[in-house]
Amino acid sequence: MTKQDQSPTSSTLPNDVVGVRREDFLLAMKQAASLVSVITTTVTDRRMALTVGSFLSVSADPPLMSVCVNKKSRMCKAMKSSGKFGVHVLADNQSEVADVFAGRPQTGDAYDFSCVEWLDQGAGRESLMDGASISAECETESIIDAGSHCIFIGAVTNIKTEEKRPLLYWNRLYGFPSSDL
Ligand SMILES: Cc1cc2nc3c(=O)[nH]c(=O)nc-3n(C[C@H](O)[C@H](O)[C@H](O)COP(=O)(O)O)c2cc1C
Repeated sequence: MTKQDQSPTSSTLPNDVVGVRREDFLLAMKQAASLVSVITTTVTDRRMALTVGSFLSVSADPPLMSVCVNKKSRMCKAMKSSGKFGVHVLADNQSEVADVFAGRPQTGDAYDFSCVEWLDQGAGRESLMDGASISAECETESIIDAGSHCIFIGAVTNIKTEEKRPLLYWNRLYGFPSSDL
């Protein structure tokens, strides 16, 4: 393999490469607007969920999606053990759902699944979220170790789309796309 063929990863970067400061990186990332999604998984009948801004569409052939999950989160361990996860891209009227599954509810209990309607898909399947702009189920295809996070890539096994404006997150604020210029 030539040097050019080698793709750099966090484990292959030479020691003499000087990275940016963590604070500068986090300041920059505040400016990166993201979709807001809730990911779900089920381990021995126990449902778990987490709000993430890291959902990405990866591939159409075959259909693949990815999310990044902090290794310290209970969700990371649960997703590794279940091998399956749901991705629910929230609509613009669902910021309260985002806060519930980010552990900071505006009212009620954190991580309370009754904050939104779920559509049962049968035994062993991840429920889909009513009112979400996209709601999908994935079989974990690969897990990539990436610094503080794990990147889960999933093959999409079920999907529902609703024509809704998505909820966005930017500079610690929720918002939505507008056609007003
Ligand atoms: C808008 C938003 C986006 C987030 N994105 C991610 C993410 O991509 N990955 C992640 O692990 N945590 C993300 N978080 C943080 C988790 O939702 C939050 O830390 C979590 O509820 C803590 O759960 P734990 O008790 O399982 O650690 C995000 C939070 C918010 C509000």
